[in-house]
Amino acid sequence: MRELKPNVYAVGAVDWDRRLFDELIPLPDGTSYNAYLIKGSEKTALLDTVDPTKADVLIDNLVRIGINRIDYVVAHHAEQDHSGSIPDVLMLYPDAKIVTNAKCKGMLIDLLNVADDKFITVEDGQTLSLGDKTLQFVYIPWVHWPETLGTYLQEDKIFFPCDFFGSHLATSSLFVDDEAVVYEAAKRYYAEIMMPFRTTVKKNLEKIKALEIEMIATSHGPIYDRPEFIIDAYKDWVGDEVKNEVVLPYVSMHDSTRKMVEHFADALIERGITVKQFKLSSTDIGKLAISLVDAATIVLGSPTVLTGAHPAAAYAAILANALRPKTRFASIIGSYGWGGRMVEQLTGMIPNLKVEVLEPVMAKGHPKDEDFVALDKLADQILAKHKELKVSK
Ligand code: FEO
Repeated sequence: MRELKPNVYAVGAVDWDRRLFDELIPLPDGTSYNAYLIKGSEKTALLDTVDPTKADVLIDNLVRIGINRIDYVVAHHAEQDHSGSIPDVLMLYPDAKIVTNAKCKGMLIDLLNVADDKFITVEDGQTLSLGDKTLQFVYIPWVHWPETLGTYLQEDKIFFPCDFFGSHLATSSLFVDDEAVVYEAAKRYYAEIMMPFRTTVKKNLEKIKALEIEMIATSHGPIYDRPEFIIDAYKDWVGDEVKNEVVLPYVSMHDSTRKMVEHFADALIERGITVKQFKLSSTDIGKLAISLVDAATIVLGSPTVLTGAHPAAAYAAILANALRPKTRFASIIGSYGWGGRMVEQLTGMIPNLKVEVLEPVMAKGHPKDEDFVALDKLADQILAKHKELKVSK
């Protein structure tokens, strides 16, 4: 438990040991579930709770501050890592009301079985007075669920945006103390959680311009006491500009595809293009997701297995399709033994990507001179396409 500003406390939990979220997303640096307590001169509000696995930490923090009464539990988002301990809090503070919007209320009733009369629903822009502190609710839908809202604490100029601007980063620092480390973690978080909703993230960035923000206290990772750091990073990530980069995830069984990938990566580098190469059988998919935030092009490398793509390559295609990066070009390189429909299969898996598919290069067996020539031509074509787009470095 620590104080951000007078009578505004961080009461959440750091989860140093968690290594996977949703049984999908790697957390190499752990995470935190941030909850905040605001003591006004008349009323007390708790903003969000924590993952149910850490409910005891939240309760201990509240007890240590000596909180006898909570009037409002503001629920910004129904996902369990923030709402899952609401029942524990209500058990300890039975008079508390849950403050949220109508959509989140419906979800919390579905997920936590909370009684209807425990809720106060608020509209976008509505305020709630705690006495000398005023909460202003700001709807920020689709960052990353439809119901998400944030709270602006008017007197202290703190914005609490829940997942928006978050980072999966376990740290003992309350505030960002190493911007390079947080930038990487926040970019990973953006890539995995927010990128599929780039358009609405952009709208929400515009919307919060109306607030005078001195501090952004997210629900994961350290607090931004220099908010322009993360706001500028988000502007860059959601912008339409792509970089002179090729993301090259690949898998190889008998080295044919690997040889093609290595030749192709060299050809791209010789042409001044940045390459982000990932061996799918061992890569951290979070790193792959980060690389998709800016890259102009993705090229998948795969051998043919049972007439189709290797399942690891299919997984990468499905993942890229789900994350909806702003990538503009795509292609496929790889090998086959006697035939197959890998190219059609993989291109059919990426309907969400608004990409131009460039001529794939498929080698029969081990790659031969003509295959390396075809790879050089693909590299030439990518360079020409990037130049046409005037991609940035
Ligand atoms: Fe951190 Fe969408 O929950």
